[in-house]
Amino acid sequence: MSAKPKVFVTRIIPAKGLQMVQEAWDVDLWTDDLPPSRDIMLQRVRGVAGLLCLLTDRVDGELPVAAGPQLKVVSNHAVGFDNIVVPDCTARGIPVGNTPGILTDATADFAFALLMAAARRVVEADRYVRTGQWKTWGPSVLLGSDFVGATLGIVGYGRIGQAMARRALGFDLRVIYYDPTAIPEPNDPAQKVSLETLLSESDFISLHTPLSPATRHLMDARAFAQMKQNAVLVNTARGPIIDQMALYDALKTGRIFAAALDVTDPEPLPMDSPLLELENLIIVPHIASASQSTRDKMAMMAAANLIAGVQGQRLPNCINPQVYDR
Ligand code: GLV
Repeated sequence: MSAKPKVFVTRIIPAKGLQMVQEAWDVDLWTDDLPPSRDIMLQRVRGVAGLLCLLTDRVDGELPVAAGPQLKVVSNHAVGFDNIVVPDCTARGIPVGNTPGILTDATADFAFALLMAAARRVVEADRYVRTGQWKTWGPSVLLGSDFVGATLGIVGYGRIGQAMARRALGFDLRVIYYDPTAIPEPNDPAQKVSLETLLSESDFISLHTPLSPATRHLMDARAFAQMKQNAVLVNTARGPIIDQMALYDALKTGRIFAAALDVTDPEPLPMDSPLLELENLIIVPHIASASQSTRDKMAMMAAANLIAGVQGQRLPNCINPQVYDR
């Protein structure tokens, strides 16, 4: 009987997915809480047929070379794939998988939770109580913004952006979106607008676009200058879409009202970052998709991509299907 193909899994993923992979292949599992270093990655992929990696692992052209010609698949345990240089994998005929769809609702729920928390100052109010500042009920204490009738601007109108719009419509918000590639649906109450219109008309802005050269620092000093003074900015997409120094200035000077970041640049945010001094900023550690069942589904989808790839079958969710046209 021939030995099972070997795969490298770069972190302990939820058991439902890990078991699928362990039952199928010979798994080399990285069990540390922190990601493997670059050197360790390059060593551990040597001779593997498949790699199941996380968004904290960089996969570029060097990696398939270090792995060897038997590498058949890279499966990312995330929907975003800016950690992977996809053309480098495509050039070698290696399919790359991701986990779209299943985390849409969890991510949109969390983006909406952050929006409400920032607009109504929930985290700041909790700190106010815990630091003994609550002396009495006050008519002007911790005032925030109303939702009904306000305008939400969504940047990136894919699956998650549209799920955010559905939530916002339930709260009687007007929804506009900026997405150069989205084709407007005739009955969609959300309206497609230019970036300039979105920046100048939105009371709330939520980012749902992938990170690319076109979206890196899309929210820069110029963008903040166009926003309303009561604007609340939420980012559950990728940290580098915001120029964080420009965000710092905008929040510090009151150019905008508040922000909430699930993602930062870099991650984790260094403890000496000036952003941590700001009362009107919420920062959480990249957990928008972190519900139990969503993470189970992500692990199972990443496992299914890995297993199919090692078997030489088409990945259920493939980012670079061009590899199959060869
Ligand atoms: C999380 O950020 C993901 O891309 O799945």
